[in-house]
This record gives sequence, C-alpha cells and structure tokens, in this order.
Amino acid sequence: MDILISPTPDALNAALADAIVARAKDAIAARGRFSVALTGGSSPQGAYKLLAQSPRKDAIDWQHCFVFMSDERCVPFSDPRSNYGEAQRHFLNYVPLPPTNLLPIETDGGTPEQIADAYAQTLASFFGTDVSSAPPAFDLILLGLGDDGHCASLFPGKPTLNEMHKWVVSSTPGTLPPPVDRVTFTFPLLNAARAVLFVVNGDKKAVVVQDILEKAPPVVQNPAVGVQPSQGTVTWMIDQAAASLLSPDTGTRR
Ligand code: 6PG
Repeated sequence: MDILISPTPDALNAALADAIVARAKDAIAARGRFSVALTGGSSPQGAYKLLAQSPRKDAIDWQHCFVFMSDERCVPFSDPRSNYGEAQRHFLNYVPLPPTNLLPIETDGGTPEQIADAYAQTLASFFGTDVSSAPPAFDLILLGLGDDGHCASLFPGKPTLNEMHKWVVSSTPGTLPPPVDRVTFTFPLLNAARAVLFVVNGDKKAVVVQDILEKAPPVVQNPAVGVQPSQGTVTWMIDQAAASLLSPDTGTRR
C-alpha cells in the first residue's frame, strides 16, 4: 500500500489528476485501452476539473479510454445527487470521449437489483467474459472515503460486505446522506483491479483515515479496509488536513 500526502487540497487535485494521466498512458501503451471506474462524492471533483483542461486534457488519448462508475445513486443523471451526472458536469462533457466509451450505471433500468445485474452484464461484455466467471481487472478504480469508513456504496454493517461472487450489487442507503438506493462494485470486483486509488481530503476525514491506515479496524466497521487487490496496487492520496492525525512515519509527504 502506498500513502501519498499532499500539502494542500490543490496539490492533491493535481497529484490525483497526474496519477490518472499516468495510468491511462501506461494502460494504453501496454494493452491498447484504459478502463477506469470513477468515484462519486466531492473529493475527486477538483481533479476531474483538471483533467478537462490543458495540459492534462491534451495528454490523454481519449479514444482509447473507457469510463465506468464504481458506484451510483439511483437517481436520474440530471439529479445533482447523481455520481455520473457530477462527473459529466465537471469533466466528461469537456473531453473528446466517444459516446460509446461512456459506460455509466443506467439508473432508469428498473429496480436497484436489476440495475446492478444489468451493469454486471455491461462489464462482462466489455471485458469479454461472463458474470459467473472471475471478476475482470480494471486498469484503475477510483474510490472516495466516507467519514464512517465506507467506500463506493459499501456501508458499515451491510450484507453487501459479504458478497463473494457478484461483481455489482444494490445497496440500501447508509447512515450518511443522500438517503437513496445505491448500486455498487463489490469487494471481489474492487480487489481484482490492477490499481485502486483512494482520494481523501479535509479534516472531517482525519479520524477515519487514522483508524484505517494505522489501527486496522474490522471491515464490518470500516469497509475501506477490505480493499486489498490480490494482484494490483492500492494507493491512498490524501491532503494534509485528512492526514493530520497520522504519525509522521506514515506515508510519503510531498
Ligand atoms: C457515493 C460515493 C461515496 C463517496 C464517499 C466520499 O456515492 O456517495 O461514491 O463512496 O466517495 O462518501 O464522499 P465525499 O468525497 O463527498 O466525502
């Protein structure tokens, strides 16, 4: 696990945007395409805006990027609570991604369970496999962190934490807002990734960051602890405010 601590929120945004550019370049050079699952929440939005501007916008071969979502709220994309809608509004609308390279969780597809199953099928056909096989390896999955230790829509104490086979499941709301049904990647899918990148900012996250990175609480209390890709890497990108309770020996400061 790598823990990278940026001195300011702006420095974190720049570091995250640069990390995404680097992953895209490496994946396209190695395999001809870049599969990335974006996270919702406020934490990645600054980096998303930077990706939509020069020089980073010009550094990515968008024709070969394929964009997914690691979780979604069951609302229309036009709703301000929509994760994909937020990514569109800050980022995706401003880069030359072919429409067929955009693969959001289609929230008008029935019940949350039906939406989850349909998204697993979307993933299976993109990766050329089937949903009863081992989960596919995304080049990069982005995740935020809730104050309660949740990531994607894997909330403390919920049965979704025990899912061993399905790649995508529905979830009832957690205790944090907004109180809407969710669809989320599961641990098996997250842990099949080539790389997972957490982005965490602000002093409200300092306690949970310290718990997760220095105290190793149980997954049922802090689901983010369960993100440990079996073949891939996990990197925590944190600003100084969120890292303020970490010991000086934890992580790399720059
Ligand atoms: C969601 C998310 C969720 C988010 C965290 C952090 O749909 O709510 O994807 O996992 O990343 O709650 O959110 P903030 O970045 O807004 O703190």
